Amino acid sequence: MSCCHHYALAEGGDAAFAVDVSAITFGAGCLREAGDHAASLGMRRVALFTDPRLAALEHLAVVRDSLAGAGLDVVVYDQVQVEPTDRSFLDAARFAGEGRFDGFVSLGGGSVIDTAKAANLYATYPADFAAYVNAPIGEARAVPGPLKPHIACPTTSGTGAECTGIAIFDYVERHVKTGIVSKRLRPTLALIDPVTTFTLPASVVAASGFDVLSHALESYTALPHSQRAAPERPSLRPMSQGANPWSDVGCKEALKRTGRYLQRAVASADDHEAREQMMFAATLAGIAFGNAGVHLPHGMSYAVAGGVCDFHAPDYPDDHPMVPHGMSVIVNAPAVFRFTADACPERHLDAARWLGTDVAGAAADDAGERLASRLIELMRITGIPNGVGGVGYGTADLPTLAAGAWAQQRLVRNAPKAVDEAGLGALFGSALRYW
Ligand SMILES: [Fe+2]
Repeated sequence: MSCCHHYALAEGGDAAFAVDVSAITFGAGCLREAGDHAASLGMRRVALFTDPRLAALEHLAVVRDSLAGAGLDVVVYDQVQVEPTDRSFLDAARFAGEGRFDGFVSLGGGSVIDTAKAANLYATYPADFAAYVNAPIGEARAVPGPLKPHIACPTTSGTGAECTGIAIFDYVERHVKTGIVSKRLRPTLALIDPVTTFTLPASVVAASGFDVLSHALESYTALPHSQRAAPERPSLRPMSQGANPWSDVGCKEALKRTGRYLQRAVASADDHEAREQMMFAATLAGIAFGNAGVHLPHGMSYAVAGGVCDFHAPDYPDDHPMVPHGMSVIVNAPAVFRFTADACPERHLDAARWLGTDVAGAAADDAGERLASRLIELMRITGIPNGVGGVGYGTADLPTLAAGAWAQQRLVRNAPKAVDEAGLGALFGSALRYW
């Protein structure tokens, strides 16, 4: 810990923190182990979730053959929507309910893994859709009991969805991006094969790599768990419990690897060492943020992604305007960390150093600028757009963006500094352009 007082207990604060993680198997070629793991978890009839693009690729065949080779009955659901919605979650849940499965395997990015989580939930404990959705948008009802086993196999080095109990979706009916959050949604096993990233296009590696970076950076700088109000009952301690000594370990290692390997992983698909290290960084950051929670860059990202008018990112589906998740996060980050630095300057300097900046002689007042400068440098090197303005927004959009971010109270409250809606508008203003 960079500061021995960082976890000093505030009056009414939470003296304890909790650690919940998925079981993890990590290594080149481990997708071939899917069948044995599924059988040992008691699965006999398996729903294998993926999206239409991945359905045609070799990785799906590897997993399907492994499951079938272990004697399991496998039914593929390849209709997962990238950037899922309430409707696509419900379609998947209907498939899961009608198929009478006793286990789930998901192969894909965060959209696929999150859809399998939601399908497992609504098929196992049917309820009105809004029942389990985050309050105040939904009822935030507790998941009544354990779900069926779920093996999550990520194919991008980004979301960390294989390690978290969060399922994010676009609630089209309510015009908001939100989620379902429960420890019970966390996959039983994360089966992480870095070979899946060797064929990813550079822009996908860049956007997902910045998602990793920001998971680690936000978790490391989040409000300390000891300053968050203690829960009414221990079982109600939230997953977004704030920074804690456990998540700090994963954040540090994820930031070091991102600082060292992100640029290389983007520059060359043949740099397997860099791509494998970014996959491991994604795992470490996923474990960390799954037990700490992210804050403002992610809270602001939902407004950036949700209000997009005409931005198209290279190598992403071109049928509708879209800001990829990691890109919608990182365009906010330099402005946010300039703002939050005075809440815990040592932590901002730690992060700048782990990302590769020489911070020798830097004073506390320099922390925000040192970290922001390194983020901007990495963004420029890897082809990320120039701030929120670079993905199509202007000054006239600031009130709408601020209102969208303000709705993400779970994330806003996890920031190390209090901010109101007008303050969020000012942050978006500072994030419009960086160079
Ligand atoms: Fe993220």
